[in-house]
Amino acid sequence: MAAFRDLISFSDIDLPCWESLYSLCRDIIARPGDYADACRGKLLASLFFEASTRTRFSFQAAMLRLGGSLFGFSNPNDTSIAKGESLADTIRMTASYADAIVMRSPQEGAARAASLYSEVPVINAGDGGHHHPTQTLADLTTIAMTRGSIGGVTVGLCGDLKYGRTVHPLVTALSMFPDVKFRLISPDELKMPDYVMDFIRARGIAYTECASIREAISSLDILYMTRVQRERFPENFPSGAVDKLLSRFTLTADDLRGAKRELMVLHPLPRVGEVERAVDRDPRAKYFEQARYGMYIRMALLLKLTALPREARYPEREGGHSCPNPACITATEKYLPRLVTAEGNCGYCDRKLSG
Ligand code: NCD
Repeated sequence: MAAFRDLISFSDIDLPCWESLYSLCRDIIARPGDYADACRGKLLASLFFEASTRTRFSFQAAMLRLGGSLFGFSNPNDTSIAKGESLADTIRMTASYADAIVMRSPQEGAARAASLYSEVPVINAGDGGHHHPTQTLADLTTIAMTRGSIGGVTVGLCGDLKYGRTVHPLVTALSMFPDVKFRLISPDELKMPDYVMDFIRARGIAYTECASIREAISSLDILYMTRVQRERFPENFPSGAVDKLLSRFTLTADDLRGAKRELMVLHPLPRVGEVERAVDRDPRAKYFEQARYGMYIRMALLLKLTALPREARYPEREGGHSCPNPACITATEKYLPRLVTAEGNCGYCDRKLSG
């Protein structure tokens, strides 16, 4: 049985949890027929408040391959949310029909908020620019399946490290393994958020900042590319300045000449030019395999979480939370209870609450 109920950020998962999910995943890959009915009679609610191709299809494919079923939406305008229904009510109602909820939202902390009101496990399929832990499961699975183990690697994280939600839980996840070093490759305007840097420093994880792929490539075992998340830029963001720099953060086939033979190039996809198409022909490009592994590890996750018993949930006290981040779920869902992390940050979006 999994030792976690909700998967909101990667801190919900420890090493034994990961190992048990990964071992189940490997068994599913080896003997898919044995799992064809493993979720028969189970129902997954799939609530996508924000666009998605891979993650939504991946969860659908995962549930269907387990013999389970799904209901949900990919356009919230077709639901009572368009009438002004609160997230808490939408979740309470949905949880009463389903065995687990997978949700994606443009608002940071939305999945955490949902988990406070849900009788069934909530899986975060992306909350604004904050987290995307099931993509991290796909990333770890790809690394482990390709290299045989995860520790002892130098990992380049490249592109939009500020708004790219996949790299934030990836840092937490990789910190569970020994001797992992980071090279942070991004324009100044798109550097890692403070709370991730605070985590890296507090854990004493080795890192350096690099101004281009060229500067870092020869040292890397893994290069994790990301798309610039223009849809998350605030109105006053200097996007013109970022555009001028982007060629330094675009991976070309030529860049790979200076890379290790066993380098792995990962990307959560979709890409919009930051990985040249010519790179696809290089065997070090693993991003399409990564998408396939994502489906298998989501099967393992769904199998574990849909087996958990229902648990009545409702916050004891509502209201009283105030967060300065306009993208935080608490900016619109004002009734949410006060939630503060051990570091004194917002318990929904991790933004500093004071100062
Ligand atoms: C990512 C996402 O939605 O955060 N895609 C995905 O889930 N595979 C990355 C992105 O949109 O750039």
